[in-house]
Amino acid sequence: MRRPLVAGNWKMNGTCASVGELTLSLNEVALPESVDVVVLPPYIYIDRVVSVLANSLIGVGAQNCSVKPGFGALTGEISAAQLKDIGCDWVLVGHSERRIELGESDELVAEKVRVVLDSGLRPIICVGEELSERQSGRTLEIVKRQLDAVMRIVGVESLGEAVFAYEPVWAIGSGLSATPEQAQEVHAAIRARLAENSKELAEKARILYGGSVKPENALELFGMADIDGGLIGGASLKVNDFSAICRAAGN
Ligand code: PGA
Repeated sequence: MRRPLVAGNWKMNGTCASVGELTLSLNEVALPESVDVVVLPPYIYIDRVVSVLANSLIGVGAQNCSVKPGFGALTGEISAAQLKDIGCDWVLVGHSERRIELGESDELVAEKVRVVLDSGLRPIICVGEELSERQSGRTLEIVKRQLDAVMRIVGVESLGEAVFAYEPVWAIGSGLSATPEQAQEVHAAIRARLAENSKELAEKARILYGGSVKPENALELFGMADIDGGLIGGASLKVNDFSAICRAAGN
């Protein structure tokens, strides 16, 4: 039985005031004990979110990290070692907004996964197809290509602590979630691909669904056999919606 995980990706949102308010509310809201809950604030707010949530069970992570490990000369970047130093447990890697808008390649994403794991943090590795790729019947091919790069560069034996997230690009922030059946098909394909390389990893790996998850559709999505939780964007900024989604994952 895989323990569900719900991660809130705050993206490039928030101010000192709104992040403070959101974090205090999260600290007070009742969340199910049977679900791992993680929030991913913008870098500059991580420190304060870690302090506010220090006595809660909510994990904190970053939305990205440098591909260079350790410390040193790389102006403007933040390393996994620094994220660990300020109390992060998790790092989101390969979000489609970074792949598409910032040109992150499959190989770069895989190298970042390696750095995250080597630094003692846990990656949430995003994969997913664009609308044109789905329309041309290439969804599984794209997702396998993204996954294979990670397995090839990092090695399946090192991926025991990794979490995967399937996020169809056309469903992100669009209000148009994949149907539970569409999502399940890809989740099952991801698990099957992992199983070709390691049955043990495939069995234990949590695969989250992301893309317009809301309290209204969460229960149905999380009810699918290979969906082990969610990666939540917009709805993670509203404490009532986010906590309702976490409760759905616990059902
Ligand atoms: P969304 O974003 O929930 O706003 O669609 C999900 C994500 O990009 O992780």
